[in-house]
Amino acid sequence: MDGKALAQRVREQVAREVAELDHPVGLATVLVGEDPASAVYVRNKQSACREAGIEPFHHELSADTTQHELLGLVAELNADERVTGILVQLPLPEVIDEDAVIRAIDPVKDVDGFHPANAGFLVQGRPTLLPATPAGIMELLREYKVSLSGARALVIGRSNIVGKPIALLLLGESATVTIAHSRTRDLEALAREADVLVAAVGRAGMVTQEMLKPGATVIDVGINRVEGRVVGDVAEDAREVAGLLTPVPGGVGPMTIAMLLKNTLQAARYQARTLAFPLG
Ligand code: GUN
Repeated sequence: MDGKALAQRVREQVAREVAELDHPVGLATVLVGEDPASAVYVRNKQSACREAGIEPFHHELSADTTQHELLGLVAELNADERVTGILVQLPLPEVIDEDAVIRAIDPVKDVDGFHPANAGFLVQGRPTLLPATPAGIMELLREYKVSLSGARALVIGRSNIVGKPIALLLLGESATVTIAHSRTRDLEALAREADVLVAAVGRAGMVTQEMLKPGATVIDVGINRVEGRVVGDVAEDAREVAGLLTPVPGGVGPMTIAMLLKNTLQAARYQARTLAFPLG
């Protein structure tokens, strides 16, 4: 499954719609500390914004920033009308309460879809701003016409960023969903039953060819650095058994950025009141 090509089409569509909008669209990114991977992700998000005609506002804070200072910045961004989307890159330094920061973001500007209000709407089947990676996976499944109604889906990983929201989105499409995690017994047996398998663990090659049902759709969310190379959670030889598979790199990763841009456009529409946000 070519995530790069689909992401490019989504980005072009977002750029067209941003150009047609008669109000500005701006994304604030906040990076705290010096995690090199996070710095790369944020840089990519900013350049993608620029390309789509979305104004980027970047804030880089030192690793010793206090929670109070970070909450102060979030409050400023909430009040700034030029900023229609806010993204605080995770993980944050340990002394900062991540949940408190996420809760402080105005839900209508929460382009990550991590705020409890947006997570709650997703649970209730009334999706608003969806976390970008799961939203990108659903877009790929739609593009490749993967049949989900009644299909057995296995999600490996239970994070708030990927595992839980993708499980809910698959459920919303009437898949029979199982969530597996580090305490799951006999993962192999569950995997062999899965028509759709989502691997979001962060362990290189943990899903092997032998675990897959022949013809299964395999979504690899892993980004693991092994001997200078980026590899996924799914072993390379899995493609011989899978029906459809997302490569790493070039599968889910590009879709995440594309969906962030789509969310930023959607958030701008909420604020312009051309689209109704459920909280009013
Ligand atoms: N860290 C890893 N993935 C993400 C993401 O999707 N959003 C944010 N804000 N931080 C992340």
